[in-house]
Amino acid sequence: MNNCELKKLIVEEKQKTGTVILAHTYQDPDIIDVADITGDSFFLSKKAAEIKAERVIMCGVRFMAESVKILSPETQTILPVPSATCPMAEQILPERVREFKKQNPEAEVVAYINTTAALKAECDVCVTSSSAIKIVDKLKADDILFIPDQHLGSFVKEKLPHKNIILWDGYCPVHAQLTAEDVIECKKKHPGAVFAVHPESPAEVVALADMVGATSEIINYAKAQKGEVIIGTERGVVDYLALHEDNGERFIQLAPEKLCCEDMKKISLEDVYKAIKGEVGEKIELHEELRKKALVSINRMLELG
Ligand code: 13P
Ligand code: SF4
Repeated sequence: MNNCELKKLIVEEKQKTGTVILAHTYQDPDIIDVADITGDSFFLSKKAAEIKAERVIMCGVRFMAESVKILSPETQTILPVPSATCPMAEQILPERVREFKKQNPEAEVVAYINTTAALKAECDVCVTSSSAIKIVDKLKADDILFIPDQHLGSFVKEKLPHKNIILWDGYCPVHAQLTAEDVIECKKKHPGAVFAVHPESPAEVVALADMVGATSEIINYAKAQKGEVIIGTERGVVDYLALHEDNGERFIQLAPEKLCCEDMKKISLEDVYKAIKGEVGEKIELHEELRKKALVSINRMLELG
């Protein structure tokens, strides 16, 4: 079956079964095409809280499907490929967070949304890359443990020097590969271009950027420019821009060989079809006590962000 036929079948099955497809912007353009809601982590979380559907197929990675389940427990939530996980989500154990809180009772623990539900349940508040500065700034505590991404954490720390932000040593294996040389080389080839980057990137890369922001912020910034824009984030963003903008060739992918998230790309159109038919995928189940604890930190993020 070709992709056109598959897409037609997916649309028919969606209507028949009352299924809503959510897709992160990093997904393959064919999946974006059949999705009902697309966006970055913050947008998808906001939408997950509003969803009234019986069933959601989450095209992204496991923590995103868990966030849907945390926010909409009545909704059957399916992750089409169970092995699609964000490696950063498990770079700190929940026990270490508990230990830290015991030793630092006055401090607050801030978890990047790219964490497991078990970690969210131990934290005081979640943040996304687009809401981290705003939320951390609003917290009463001066001492803050930021988990797990050291690069996003140090970006926030630099913007909020009045807070004592303690960093964990986690990182995104995709963005962390970027170097200042990658940017300098690309700028040589595109001398007039501006450079937008995701804050999961190392500080030496962020220092060279004209704009630092989450997926949706990079998209909005790139669209608003007249000339060439170098995009320093996962390849799906340039694919998305090329699909949605007439003059897509002005968006230049930085280090394309590095900026591909294998986990985000694990889901194929065929997997989506089979997941709707109930042939593949994992139904996300969370222990109710853990779900309620994780919900507190996500709800706080939605309120403060
Ligand atoms: P956003 O918060 O920008 O959607 O990022 C999610 C992510 O996994 C980035 O690598
Ligand atoms: Fe995780 Fe990085 Fe992939 Fe985003 S790009 S899902 S942070 S590994």
